[in-house]
Amino acid sequence: MEIKATSGKLENLRTKAVISFMFKEDKKFNEDIMTLDKLLNGSISLLKKEQKFVGDEGKFLVVPTFRKLKSEYVIIVGLGNRRRADLDTIRRAGAYIIRKAKELRIDKLAIDVKNLDGIKEKEYELAQALTEGIVLGDYRFDKYKTKKDESKIKEVDIRVSRRFKNISDERISIGKILAEAQNFARDIANEPANVITPQKLAEIAEELAKEYGFEVKIYDEEEIEKLGMNAYLSVAKGSANPPRFIHLTYKPKNPKKEIAIVGKGLTFDSGGLNIKPGDYMRWMKSDKSGACAVLGIFKAIGELKPNVTIHGVIAACENMPDGKSYRPDDIIKAKNGVTIEVGNTDAEGRLTLADALSYVSELKPDAIIDMATLTGACIVALGEYTAGVMGNNQKFIDEILDISEKTGEWMWQLPFNDKLREHIKAPNADVLNIGKTRYGGAIIGGLFLEKFVDPKIPWVHIDIAGPAHNTSGWYYHPPGATGFPVRTITNLILEESKK
Ligand code: BES
Ligand code: ZN
Ligand code: ZN
Repeated sequence: MEIKATSGKLENLRTKAVISFMFKEDKKFNEDIMTLDKLLNGSISLLKKEQKFVGDEGKFLVVPTFRKLKSEYVIIVGLGNRRRADLDTIRRAGAYIIRKAKELRIDKLAIDVKNLDGIKEKEYELAQALTEGIVLGDYRFDKYKTKKDESKIKEVDIRVSRRFKNISDERISIGKILAEAQNFARDIANEPANVITPQKLAEIAEELAKEYGFEVKIYDEEEIEKLGMNAYLSVAKGSANPPRFIHLTYKPKNPKKEIAIVGKGLTFDSGGLNIKPGDYMRWMKSDKSGACAVLGIFKAIGELKPNVTIHGVIAACENMPDGKSYRPDDIIKAKNGVTIEVGNTDAEGRLTLADALSYVSELKPDAIIDMATLTGACIVALGEYTAGVMGNNQKFIDEILDISEKTGEWMWQLPFNDKLREHIKAPNADVLNIGKTRYGGAIIGGLFLEKFVDPKIPWVHIDIAGPAHNTSGWYYHPPGATGFPVRTITNLILEESKK
């Protein structure tokens, strides 16, 4: 799909559909639509009245032009309440437009973001958000379907003011890179565990490294053991698919900072000996979503080349029940020397992350971010659409929360406290991998990880158990893996690069 900025009069655009917006309860259309309405002898206003179209979000007014214009259709898209509209409103609209266009078999369209007063963002910001929504909303994971949806959009023009055309084209290309990187993460996360094994994840990292010139080091079982990563190794023991520890590095010429990103990479989580009941085991192929986000972010930075050194670390493995599995009550020593008593083999992600976080702490980066489908409790606390954010540095947490407001990747901070810290004390070791009660389970997970991070390094933990995967899909996310939070973390890296 080609997406580009254009300027000029709506009525002169050579395209199959001209698309414009309207906020809910706006008294009248903007001037440009009024002009089109005149050229169509008032049929836009007439249909608006007949169909009682008032601009509700996601609703469409589809007006055929019967050859009175160069385009076959004029389509007005509702944006909902003007007061509540922001960049994500436009991102969502992008996805809705693409779906509608496919339904109408339109492969060439022009979308007008000029004069969209009501959203305080600049036209080129709108152009980027619209691009993101279009590319994200157009995503399908249909490689295993014999019958595929053949409708394809070929060309999208985004109409802006002439003076913003060049910068809009730049921002459209950034939006495209971000959304395609997110789709790349979705593609890997959507693959089942019989396809994506830890070894396969390592191969994908190697391919990325080759394509973009990253350094990459893959550690096998023996090397993982030599590095003292016994917590991670314990989780991996029950699987026939051996673990792979992945370390990708992006090194620009003049780095302004060094950031480590860590992704939970359970290619499948059966629960292990504490096996999950069937309903809970479904979709556990997506327990590698944090790892997929790391790979997606690397794809984006390979394209955008920020001035920040980035380490991407994944302790990939599979959690399975077996004669060789680790057990409840096992006591294991993590890479940083902390001893862990296993309360439940289904709290495995934190064990793999314990060693991964110890490993990256030794690299002494300026900041550490981990992304993990860590706890069902986080979904209970915040719902399916919002990630839980925790960490050891309020400024860093706030920075990420601020960016997430712009990207539409909803995040909310969960508070650490000393009382819950007492809950992970183990009877026979330094720390237990579960809490004393079910309460505050997402925070318990975060507090466990805290034990493995160098306290001098600002660290943020993002529990993406809810938003990483959604069986119904929402907004610009088709059902399945979402690629959350690729855009937020890439934008953070881009911000650091500018500082
Ligand atoms: N991978 C799961 C968390 C999860 C649950 C992700 C639902 C996505 C959707 C994790 O490894 C897990 O099983 N956590 C346990 C922890 C418990 C044993 C302390 C949980 O949440 O029940
Ligand atoms: Zn688990
Ligand atoms: Zn898990």
